[in-house]
Amino acid sequence: MKIAVGSDHAGVEFKKEIVAWLEGHGHTCTDMGPYTEDSVDYPDYAHKVGRSVASGEHEQGILLCGTGIGISVSANKVPGVRAALCCRPEYATLARQHNNANILCFGARFTDLATIHESLHNWFSADFEGGRHQRRVDKIEPCC
Ligand code: RB5
Repeated sequence: MKIAVGSDHAGVEFKKEIVAWLEGHGHTCTDMGPYTEDSVDYPDYAHKVGRSVASGEHEQGILLCGTGIGISVSANKVPGVRAALCCRPEYATLARQHNNANILCFGARFTDLATIHESLHNWFSADFEGGRHQRRVDKIEPCC
């Protein structure tokens, strides 16, 4: 699968581990930055990865920031993106099964490598269940 990966400065170290895990599991991975721990703004990378997933250039995305909150909120501003913040491995399964999420987000300052690996395993093992979940996903759209 073609996966886009990005973060802010807080997620750079885990991003490297995620890229290695993805490539080790046969995925084609594009690291969209940043490449140092110099301070950056998470929306820039969320939008970069979000646009590449929404356009179909990449099938799915992985994003990290300190909490995972800023990067997921920002990614969800890109039409077509369903970014899910993953706080425990079960979230990764359910984000695919129920929400048909196409970007998985982690809070680098509130997780560990074992949790990330288990979450990635769950994410790629689970499929969208459709049915009543499709109806709900269809209702996820801009509203006021
Ligand atoms: C950066 O210090 C921090 O605010 C960011 O990584 C993230 O946690 C924002 O939601």
